[in-house]
Amino acid sequence: MERGAPGDTARAWRTGKEAMLPPHSAPGSDADWLALEAEVCSHGDTVHYARQPRFFARSHGSYLYDNRDTPYLDLQMWYSAVNLGYGNERVNAAVARQLGTLPQLAPQYLHYERVELAARLVDGTRRAFGAAGRVHFDVGGSQAVEDALKLVRLRTGRQRVYAFEGGYHGRTLGASAITSAYRYREPFGEFGDRAEFVPFPYCFRCPYGKRRETCELYCVAQIERKFEHPYTGAWSSRTGRSEFAAFVVEPVQGTGGYVVPPPGYFERLARLCREHGMLLVDDEVQMGFYRTGRLWALEHFDAQPDVVAFGKALTNGLNPLSGIWAREELIGPDAFPPGTTHSTFAANPLGTAAGLEVMKIFEERDYALAVERKGSYLLELLRDLARAHPEIGDVDGLGLALRLEICQADGYTPNQELADAMFQRGLAGDLRIGGRELGLVLDIGGYYKNVITLAPSLDIADEDLELARDLLDLVLIECKQSDR
Ligand SMILES: Cc1ncc(COP(=O)(O)O)c(C=O)c1O
Repeated sequence: MERGAPGDTARAWRTGKEAMLPPHSAPGSDADWLALEAEVCSHGDTVHYARQPRFFARSHGSYLYDNRDTPYLDLQMWYSAVNLGYGNERVNAAVARQLGTLPQLAPQYLHYERVELAARLVDGTRRAFGAAGRVHFDVGGSQAVEDALKLVRLRTGRQRVYAFEGGYHGRTLGASAITSAYRYREPFGEFGDRAEFVPFPYCFRCPYGKRRETCELYCVAQIERKFEHPYTGAWSSRTGRSEFAAFVVEPVQGTGGYVVPPPGYFERLARLCREHGMLLVDDEVQMGFYRTGRLWALEHFDAQPDVVAFGKALTNGLNPLSGIWAREELIGPDAFPPGTTHSTFAANPLGTAAGLEVMKIFEERDYALAVERKGSYLLELLRDLARAHPEIGDVDGLGLALRLEICQADGYTPNQELADAMFQRGLAGDLRIGGRELGLVLDIGGYYKNVITLAPSLDIADEDLELARDLLDLVLIECKQSDR
């Protein structure tokens, strides 16, 4: 499946002799395309994290294919945006139907899919948390987070929030202010509304040096301690009110390395928020839509949110539609009146048609059961793998959000180089297994950039889970050998 390449067009453009034309006919290689990309695309996104960025030509199910039609098993599915597999026929057909009827509509008018999708999300959230609420649509996860923050300010009149070390909420200005990594903010001046960051319960590397079996949730006790007396600077003993308007959480940290909190943690944190007038904002952009085996990951933890932000897998990655759900008292018409926020492409009909089909699929099949079964099987395979490789320091997961923490041979010291080598090796697309040539799509997260975060398709076949184990094994063996 060779594709037309820029060739002469790129060269002519570089010498400034000819206007840039869309390349379409001349035969060429990915090297030509890379040369053109290097000149015309900004490098400000994440493409150039890879030493050798890779083009893909098509996708299907759990696989991406390059221009030689080599299959790459994708264990990250666009950071958990494509939960129902590439080219899902039902979701694609829903979008095609919408294309043929009402593909475009300005957001001040209504279409049926928008209302039905909102109704299904409201219903699913009511079943999850027992609360009545409404949905507001946005574009992209970061904007949903921005609007969640607007809602918090509108409700409380306050702007300071707590968030977690290792948390990731997006790259717009407001979302960067509550994302812990300073490097995302550093080039852009002062962020007066920067969150107060507290440690997440990352038990493999407990920030307090405790052990999960005996700690009695010391980490949440440290947050509770801020509200024991008024001299911690967190609250007023006169009104009982916190200076902080909200706590923004990821129930399972995504970019932070698929860190699963211990039972009981969020229950106590939610109680603390309730008692001190802080809203609990649940960022489900990465873990929502059954990634962990529930519509919302927070459902595992016996805590009720006030606001839920969602995106990514809502449309199976076909459209950047996102949104927020909030309790009625926060988002009803009196609290959140017309024009409070707006975006041209929010609630776009192609996105709502895709989202509606995704919700129907989740309602028709028992994904809670399927994800739990597949997740336990993959966890078991990965634990086997860890027995053969002491460099895998931690294996954990919830549903089909799993982590492999890559370390030195001591099983603890973070080994970013080996994790990165595994990522690059998978992308080379020439892993030989069972007489086949394959690639492997991985993503690296974690505080030390040493965690392989696994988010396979929720519909992945059992034999592909076994292939995932074999490919990870092969990549580890090869990367360790080449390191010697
Ligand atoms: C938890 C979480 N929140 C927000 C975002 C931002 O979403 P987007 O990249 O669509 O702006 C992400 C993206 O990875 C995320 O994982």
